[in-house]
Amino acid sequence: RIIILSISILMINKVAATTIGFSQVGSESGWRTSFSESVKAQAQARGIELKFSDAQQKQENQIKAVRSFIAQGVDGIIIAPVVETGWKPVLREAKRARIPVVIVDRNIKVKQQSLFLTRIASDFEEEGEKIANWLMAQTKGECAIAELQGTVGATAAIDRAKGFNRVLAKFPKSKIIRSQTGEFTRSKGKEVMESFLKAEQGGKNICAVWAHNDEMALGAIQAIKEAGLKPGTDILIVSVDGVPDYFKAMAEGEANATVELSPHLGGPSFDAIEAHLAGKKVQKLISTTGDLFTQDTAAAEYQKRRLQ
Ligand code: AHR
Repeated sequence: RIIILSISILMINKVAATTIGFSQVGSESGWRTSFSESVKAQAQARGIELKFSDAQQKQENQIKAVRSFIAQGVDGIIIAPVVETGWKPVLREAKRARIPVVIVDRNIKVKQQSLFLTRIASDFEEEGEKIANWLMAQTKGECAIAELQGTVGATAAIDRAKGFNRVLAKFPKSKIIRSQTGEFTRSKGKEVMESFLKAEQGGKNICAVWAHNDEMALGAIQAIKEAGLKPGTDILIVSVDGVPDYFKAMAEGEANATVELSPHLGGPSFDAIEAHLAGKKVQKLISTTGDLFTQDTAAAEYQKRRLQ
């Protein structure tokens, strides 16, 4: 009887689905929505029970969600953090409960690296550098730039600005003349751009908009059109993400360049947790990269992405 009982326990354990909690930043951009879809699709394909929580861009909601995942005894937790700081206490709670945590996309600041299993992310500084190099080449190093920053305290905003400014420092005739957060959303990007246009003689002083993501760039394009100027021609538009709507804008001549950020992060996140649960070693940083795209290939790239 004992043998039969043990075998059936083993069988139950084997067929029981892995349960993973996922704390997502929110749905502030098209890129973010694609990322959420990637996680949901991968969970379904792998037979993983996914507990999905949308934090609506608030870290306090993420901390609550992670605590609830711990209380429910999930097998792993994926966190796409809103901001970098403030994670230590809740990560310690997850560690005490022996639940592996994967950090995806933006970074967190913790001294104790054992508080998380791995981070899956792209190099945001490199994205800023790539787009700045392209802009400087286009404008022969002479450009007055309006910057739409991402969420304050988010790695994607901090590091993209760092990379961009590092390149800009080599071009004394180029300068960021306006800079404000547009919180990574289209509506705020539009609103901030409207105020930049007013402050800069209807936009006459602005050579380019550097938006930390496509969503804000799309809002800025709208504001520029409503002000009677031609985005992509009168004011150059550069950003990061590579969402379909932005490729469409590039194909129509209203945006100029973007660096792609892969939203396909579900697969690598589950791979890492599954490897860890199988007793395998997982590397501390799993990097993704993205290319720079311009108007030249935008129409073809838009068609490809529409069909995905
Ligand atoms: O953290 C990545 C950024 O977050 C993306 O570039 C942006 O679209 C999203 O809101």
